[in-house]
Amino acid sequence: MTTADVSARPLADLISLAGRRAVVTGGGRGLGKAIALRLAEAGADLVIGDVDADLATTAAEDVARLHGVRALGCAMDVTDSASVAAAADRAVDELGGLEVWVNNAGVFPAEPVLDMSDETWDRVFAVNARGSFVGAREAARRMTAGGAIVNIVSTAGFRGSAPGLAAYVGSKHAVRGLTRELALELAPLGIRVLGVAPSHVPTEGNLAAAAAPHPADQPPTPLMLNGPIGRPGVPDDIARVALFCASDLAAFMTGSTLLEDGGSTA
Ligand SMILES: NC(=O)c1ccc[n+]([C@@H]2O[C@H](COP(=O)([O-])OP(=O)(O)OC[C@H]3O[C@@H](n4cnc5c(N)ncnc54)[C@H](O)[C@@H]3O)[C@@H](O)[C@H]2O)c1
Repeated sequence: MTTADVSARPLADLISLAGRRAVVTGGGRGLGKAIALRLAEAGADLVIGDVDADLATTAAEDVARLHGVRALGCAMDVTDSASVAAAADRAVDELGGLEVWVNNAGVFPAEPVLDMSDETWDRVFAVNARGSFVGAREAARRMTAGGAIVNIVSTAGFRGSAPGLAAYVGSKHAVRGLTRELALELAPLGIRVLGVAPSHVPTEGNLAAAAAPHPADQPPTPLMLNGPIGRPGVPDDIARVALFCASDLAAFMTGSTLLEDGGSTA
């Protein structure tokens, strides 16, 4: 199977996800909810999965109310493969199929290298790296007519970050590498795989992390500062690019991770 030449289709059709079914992991708040909102605006029906079931339910209600699509809130822990498979099954069984999967769930606890426990390292990799792999695997098993997988990476997948984030930086480099390999292996199935790499975007999780006691009294690294565009990102900056990746506008793209960073990594 190959992704078609879409040159003859009108622009409005290329950005449309009408008739497609999408799953967003960690979609209860933050970047994931913003992504769910743009996918729904483009016409996709959705499963919004989150380890916090109440957040997932509320997000699904908001998305359905605002955009008139079908949206299911789903308790899902990306470290538990069975719960990921169950969310994928809900898309197929209750929405009728699966064409778009966004691996967004992520954690970013800060612990200095000298103090970091094995458990912290393993937990960050279980959510960010293995969770993205399991999501992609379960999605690909069900994308019988092709599809698009979008991995939310980070500028921390391109370079070092703030003190305390060794596990996070390692996990996001892993997701960027995974994006490349998945693209190679899944292309014959008509499945494209792209990464989106945000810089600093104030979200509920990001603000809580910033407010936590800092592990080292060091100045912020350039990654924590605004880039040439001069403002921090907002969730919708990331959501629009995720929609582009998921849509047929990006029909000839797979394997890349797109920096979405206001130029901060330029
Ligand atoms: N906000 C930023 O500045 C920024 C920058 C670069 C990359 N990112 C990435 O974007 C993604 C979203 O970040 P955010 O800022 O919106 O964070 P957030 O903490 O505000 O939201 C993350 C959501 O994921 C859910 N979640 C956490 N662990 C989960 C699990 N095991 N299974 C399912 N859901 C789980 C949380 O309940 C929450 O609803 C993460 O992968 C993060 O690494 C964020």
